[in-house]
Amino acid sequence: MEQSAYFCGMKTLDKKEIVVSGSRPTGLIHLGNYLGAINNYVKMQDDFQSYFFIADYHSLTTHYDARNLPQLTNEVLATYLACGLDPEKCTIYIQSHIPQIPELYLLFNMIAYKGELEKIPTFKDKVRSQEQSGKSISAGLLTYPVLMAVDIIIHRAVKVPVGKDQESHIEMARTLANRFNNLFGEKLFPEPYGFNFGEELLKIPSLDGTGKMSKSAENPNSAIYMMDTDAQIRKKIMKAKTDLGPTEPNQQRPEEINNLFDLLRLVSTPDTLAHFDEQYNNCTIRYGDLKKQLAEDMVNTVAPIRNRIEDIMRDTTYLHRVITEGGEKARASAAATLNEAKRMIGMRYV
Ligand code: TYM
Repeated sequence: MEQSAYFCGMKTLDKKEIVVSGSRPTGLIHLGNYLGAINNYVKMQDDFQSYFFIADYHSLTTHYDARNLPQLTNEVLATYLACGLDPEKCTIYIQSHIPQIPELYLLFNMIAYKGELEKIPTFKDKVRSQEQSGKSISAGLLTYPVLMAVDIIIHRAVKVPVGKDQESHIEMARTLANRFNNLFGEKLFPEPYGFNFGEELLKIPSLDGTGKMSKSAENPNSAIYMMDTDAQIRKKIMKAKTDLGPTEPNQQRPEEINNLFDLLRLVSTPDTLAHFDEQYNNCTIRYGDLKKQLAEDMVNTVAPIRNRIEDIMRDTTYLHRVITEGGEKARASAAATLNEAKRMIGMRYV
């Protein structure tokens, strides 16, 4: 695939580059969201013009629960702030506070094809699970990637810090941005790319041995939530799935063991990782010791953030101010893009 001037792997960081990302308020934020995405939002806010939002429209494609929406939305907002997002450095807003997003989404639905949306792997997975639980598939679920593309291109972003699970959506955003530019004859939208500081996008594994850590997991013990107590974290790690242990030197590691090592790599020191690596490879490892160390390092990662979330959640005046000011800035940027898009389409009448 052709790499544009906006390609995310560029070594030099251009300060003018625009960054967008968001999370759905569908449940408590977990370690996968934090390590896979939010941690990068925090690292990027100093060097880029950054927009981070809460994707409340997106949550309605699968979770239509009005009673929980305000609490979940405030929790995501408080988590962003507790993880280190600074409203002085980046624009933080709620998706539904930006009316230009649904308007551009409507225009993009005219150039997105049903067939290509049906082929997107996340759509196929969701259809399978919705159908298993007897739920209908909404048009909103089918056009989820169109809305996500609009979230990104409404600010003409080029870098999108996300986890690996969002790759196919970012690809769709590129396709739609290019299609719009080609159809209407101007390069209004740059190509957006997933971003993780030149590394592969991350997939934080679940604790039950398979798949990724997820908000909607049936087994709540398979994810570490940023609001978990120290005791809950220790209990979940100690219960994480393992095997009987290696019987030959340098034996290949099954998925559940690889997952534990992946987590160790993310929250522990390189020395700790090297120590357990060596023990695994010479067959002296005791998983209980590994898990105890992992649990302590996990507690040290999560506890300070959890404490700040609790404090920030109590300060509703501050939360309100952050999203009011962020909303204003995001609307100004979105209005400028929408205006250009409508001009290109020919929507200028007497
Ligand atoms: P959501 O709410 O499912 O997840 C928020 C972010 O967390 C990342 N993530 C993970 N990363 C690594 N390992 C995991 N186990 C893991 N689980 C979740 C996700 O990749 C995501 O970056 N469609 C998006 C929300 C969205 C969005 C956007 C993102 C809507 N519009 C525009 C970027 C740009 C989603 O469902 O994220």
